[in-house]
Amino acid sequence: MNTKILVTGGAGYIGSHTTVELQNAGYEVIIADNLSNSRIEVIDGIERITGIRPVFEQIDCSDEHMVREVLDKHRVKGIIHFAASKAVGESVQKPLMYYRNNIDSLLNFLEVMPVYGVKGLVFSSSCTVYGQPDVLPVTEQSPIRPATSPYGNTKQIDEEIIRDAIHAGHPYKSIILRYFNPIGAHPSAEIGELPIGIPQNLVPFLTQTAAGIRDKLAVFGNDYNTPDGSCIRDYINVVDLSRAHVVAMNRIINSQSEPIEYYNLGTGKGLSVLQLISLFEKATGVKVPYTIVGRREGDIEQIWADPSHANKVLGWKAVETIEDTLRSAWRWQQKLK
Ligand code: NAD
Ligand code: WQD
Repeated sequence: MNTKILVTGGAGYIGSHTTVELQNAGYEVIIADNLSNSRIEVIDGIERITGIRPVFEQIDCSDEHMVREVLDKHRVKGIIHFAASKAVGESVQKPLMYYRNNIDSLLNFLEVMPVYGVKGLVFSSSCTVYGQPDVLPVTEQSPIRPATSPYGNTKQIDEEIIRDAIHAGHPYKSIILRYFNPIGAHPSAEIGELPIGIPQNLVPFLTQTAAGIRDKLAVFGNDYNTPDGSCIRDYINVVDLSRAHVVAMNRIINSQSEPIEYYNLGTGKGLSVLQLISLFEKATGVKVPYTIVGRREGDIEQIWADPSHANKVLGWKAVETIEDTLRSAWRWQQKLK
């Protein structure tokens, strides 16, 4: 019998790609998602790629009763916890909703896991915990800076909750993955990112502009202290990112991991907004009309990862090229249209 893994938020962007990679690695996946930011059709997309339909449980992970029921029913060995609200701007408008959703859901799993013998939890954290680092690239030892949004704060608090629970001797392990900027879609274009409303993130806005859904991409600032004046990020292919979750889960299942481990998941390479636009145009042959506007409040100037800890300990490395990644985002956009 295949080892069962619960993927919370598995109908979402990163969760759906991770489900595919887990199934490809031989795990049996149970998805728990309330579809608050995703659609049930994603499950069909996963099945079309792998030939296996994951079990789907429509539950709210912030409801302790529902969490208990799912763990009782499925007896999973590990949990990958993606389910969270993730829009930075919305979190400023609705902070309590963000604290409730992102913290209660985690607490429910941490409290109940020992009852059902779950060996460990892989947690979706973010490079947002580093704020604007003084030294680049950032390692896992780089200082954690005060969060600039309630969303960012939920990730910091969640990391601290996990650390304290493990420190107190709770009988499970955790691997905390700090993602840089996930972009792109599955090469099959069966699954990808589903932005609801006007996209806030660069790549979905860029592909919608290329598709003619938006008139122009607004580049937020060209007066930063970077070579071309626009902000720099570490854009990581979503399939590469997903594969790191499989390796992390293998470490937990095979009892190879320390009680708590942290990994930066990035490529190690920073790209500016203007470079990304130009790379997209070259990779797809499609022009992206853009205009330079003022800085976006709260944006950090530049950040990219030092992924060498993940490269060495997990034996994982981002391998997809930025051109292939941007082409995959474009294929997905064309399919959505
Ligand atoms: P997403 O919104 O596409 O996926 C999250 C999924 O969780 C959605 O399907 C949503 O319906 C579900 N969900 C939310 N609250 C839930 C609840 N209470 N119960 C059940 N399901 C719930 O987001 P994503 O981009 O796939 O992000 C996944 C995780 O990675 C999140 O924790 C996010 O904070 C983190 N993360 C994302 C990024 C990024 O840029 N996408 C970067 C760093 C970290
Ligand atoms: C990337 C770059 C913008 C849109 C956010 C969250 C972070 C993490 C990832 C979850 C920046 C510029 C963007 C546009 C632009 N999520 N931009 N025009 O801000 O690095 O990170 O998503 O944890 O927490 O804050 O990603 O895609 O929004 O922006 O010029 O229309 O693109 O200024 O430099 P960001 P992003």
